[in-house]
Amino acid sequence: MIPARVTVVEVGPRDGLQNEATVLGLDDRVAFCERLLEAGLRVVEAGAFVSPRWVPQMAGSDEVLRRIRRRAGTRLPVLVPNRKGYEAALSAGAREVAVFTAASETFNRKNINATIDESFQRFAEFLPDARREGLWVRGYASTCFGCPYEGRVDPARVVEVCSRLREAGCDEISVGDTIGVGVPSQVVDVVGRLRTALPIEALAVHFHDTRGTALANVLAALQEGIATVDSSAGGLGGCPYAPGASGNLATEDLLYMLHGMGIETGVDLAAVAEASRFVGQRLGRPLPSRYLQACPV
Ligand code: HMG
Ligand code: MG
Repeated sequence: MIPARVTVVEVGPRDGLQNEATVLGLDDRVAFCERLLEAGLRVVEAGAFVSPRWVPQMAGSDEVLRRIRRRAGTRLPVLVPNRKGYEAALSAGAREVAVFTAASETFNRKNINATIDESFQRFAEFLPDARREGLWVRGYASTCFGCPYEGRVDPARVVEVCSRLREAGCDEISVGDTIGVGVPSQVVDVVGRLRTALPIEALAVHFHDTRGTALANVLAALQEGIATVDSSAGGLGGCPYAPGASGNLATEDLLYMLHGMGIETGVDLAAVAEASRFVGQRLGRPLPSRYLQACPV
């Protein structure tokens, strides 16, 4: 049965901006997050504590996190690949962190210069501390529906990696279609297998809309009982280490569909669109969200 309420996890300020050629200034990044929170989003991924040499767009995430005004009942997760990133995030006041690995070896190597096993060894160096500190932890499994280097990914591998993330201490696991190749029947298969291994409430889906299948995939995931969906304001996004990973599912397009179906999110669609227009102006390009294109102001 489709859930009556869905939590939308806004990843635009991280997954979106990390792939933009124009590096947004810190003031604009803070203002973007503030606008998204004002729009009613309860989870806004604010940045990444990764190497600025690998992803220059996320440099200064410590200052961004420090400057965002925290609202009760909201989460501001930040990506951390290793203990160094975790410590920096903690010093900047992070109360939520997100670790990331993949279901395919070649992608993981290109993305974080580590095998899947090595990424779990790195997590073991700080996740027990994060749990003791009472932090909320999200785990991303990338390339769950296909890999830009290896092609098909075995769904059994996806279940294995997601289960390992859970055992490593993740409260929530986001199942990622990093390069937007998945189709609804695959979602039914993968989520169907995952729910036999993990509580459905601990699962989120993360679709990139590269081939236009993201909303159809969300619908399939909702029908499987998923109630947490990642999206990016304006459809900003991608992954710098996944060729072809242009564009996360746009938050506006997701909200339009959910609200039209009578599913509650607590988010103001018009206010998200305003936040996207603001960022689009700063980046100097129109953003790909269909809703934004259909309803220009
Ligand atoms: P490395 O080069 O193997 O690491 O990179 P290293 O340990 O050899 O360190 C190299 C340098 O980086 C050193 O500096 C370290 O101090 C520094 P140097 O001594 O040369 O001046 N360093 C750091 N600096 C800042 N923060 C850190 C950090 N760690 C080391 N945390 C590393 C390994 C993981 C750091 C690198 O590969 C990296 O930063 N990768 C990030 C890649 C990334 O951010 N990708 C995008 C996010 S994932 C994604 O988009 C997918 C997702 O959306 C889900 C989906 O769609 O599927 C989540
Ligand atoms: Mg992504």
